[in-house]
This record gives sequence, C-alpha cells and structure tokens, in this order.
Amino acid sequence: MALTDTHTHLYLREFDADREKVIQNALDAGIERMFLPNIDSGTIEAMLKLCRSYPKSMFPMIGLHPGSVKENYVDELKTVREQALTGGFIAIGEIGIDLYWDKTFFPQQQDAFEKQIELAKELNLPIVIHARNSFQEIFNILDKHAGSGLRGVFHSFTGGLAEAAKILKYDFYLGINGIVTFKNAGLDKVVSQIPLNRLLLETDSPYLSPVPKRGSRNESSHLIYINEFLAKLLSVSPDQFAEITSANASELFKQI
Ligand code: NI
Repeated sequence: MALTDTHTHLYLREFDADREKVIQNALDAGIERMFLPNIDSGTIEAMLKLCRSYPKSMFPMIGLHPGSVKENYVDELKTVREQALTGGFIAIGEIGIDLYWDKTFFPQQQDAFEKQIELAKELNLPIVIHARNSFQEIFNILDKHAGSGLRGVFHSFTGGLAEAAKILKYDFYLGINGIVTFKNAGLDKVVSQIPLNRLLLETDSPYLSPVPKRGSRNESSHLIYINEFLAKLLSVSPDQFAEITSANASELFKQI
C-alpha cells in the first residue's frame, strides 16, 4: 500500500521527543509521502530541516496560516513571498480564513488570503485552504478567481453537501481526515456523495487523531485508519483507495 498524507505538521514541537520514530512508523505503515503545510515565519526552518533529512518522503509548502495573521502580517507575507521564489515548494499553504477563535483580524485575514492566492497563480502552485466558520467568506474570494486556472484543496473538510458542491464546481479537492471517523460528525454522509477523483487523505497531525486512536496525539501512520474507514464507506478495497487518493495527490501537487 502506498499512501500520501497530504497535510501533516510533523515539524512541530509535539514531535520533538520522538520525531524519527514517528516518521519510521509512518514509512513502515506505507505512508510514502508526507506533505508539510507551513504556519508562519517561526516554523519554516524546522519544516525545511525535516524535508532535507527525508528528501524522498517529505515535501514542504509555504504560506501564512490564518491563525497567524496579526499586526505584522505584511512582513510575514514578505517572508512567504521570498521563500516561495526560492522554489522547492509544492503548494502555497496553509492559507485561508479562520473565524472560530477570533475575528479581530478578519480584514487582514481576507487580504492575506487573497495576496497568497495571487502568489500561487504567479508561481502556478496549488493552494491548501484552511476554512473554519468561514466557507462563505472564502467562497466570496475564490469566486473572484474562478476560471483563472487556480487549483487547490479544502483541507480538513467538514462542510455539508452545499459546500461540497461549490468546491467541486471550482474543480478543487476535499482533504478528509480523522473527523470522518467520529460518531455524530455526519461527515461520512457527505463524503459518500463526492466523486473518488476529488478526495485527498490527510491526518492534520498532531491534531484530530482518528478512531481508534481518538484523543491521543495524531501522527502520520494513523492515516491507515482513515484510509480503511473511507474504503469501507465507499465500497473499494483499502489498497485501491490508497492508490486512488495518492494519484489524486500527484495530480494536484504536480511538482512531485
Ligand atoms: Ni494544518
């Protein structure tokens, strides 16, 4: 089985004590590729160091996470741009709008999202979107870029059928993680309506560990539980679903 974890933050300090073991667990479980979304200027160095240590398995993205959009976001965006221009990144991410915790910087979040979309278009890179309590706000911005060749994924998708339909209309992908295995989430009913060629697998480690590991620190090897759950839901074999979703990842993240 060859799986791709399209969203994993293995460079974070949650893994400082046992990072190599965690990565070996993932490789042993058949997670051949791990895509690392950036958060802000404070995470770039650790992320790139990890990618240098595992050049065949770890691939970095560059971007400013909406949760890190503060007073200094213009400087942060300069750093994103400088880094992006050096090359070697598979996507602009993670970027988007998060209105769950704090709406203080909503205008700045909108501006940062749009500027990073422009950067992705300039460099012909896909975007990895973080959307939390913000589908409509994100759709309003994406609508302005419809038909421009912009491509991307809604990572950690948790919307309903209406949101999924809108995303499919953009020709974007949906990143599905451990939330789909949670009872009462209801996400399984939505995912079963989505064409297989639009689905990507992700863990979002260290967050959102899937059943049967729910509540523990998440790691990329747990992707096998998400793959098994979805394969069953969608009536394909785990091997087939791994192959389909890895091919989808290669299609979107063409740089690999
Ligand atoms: Ni993330």
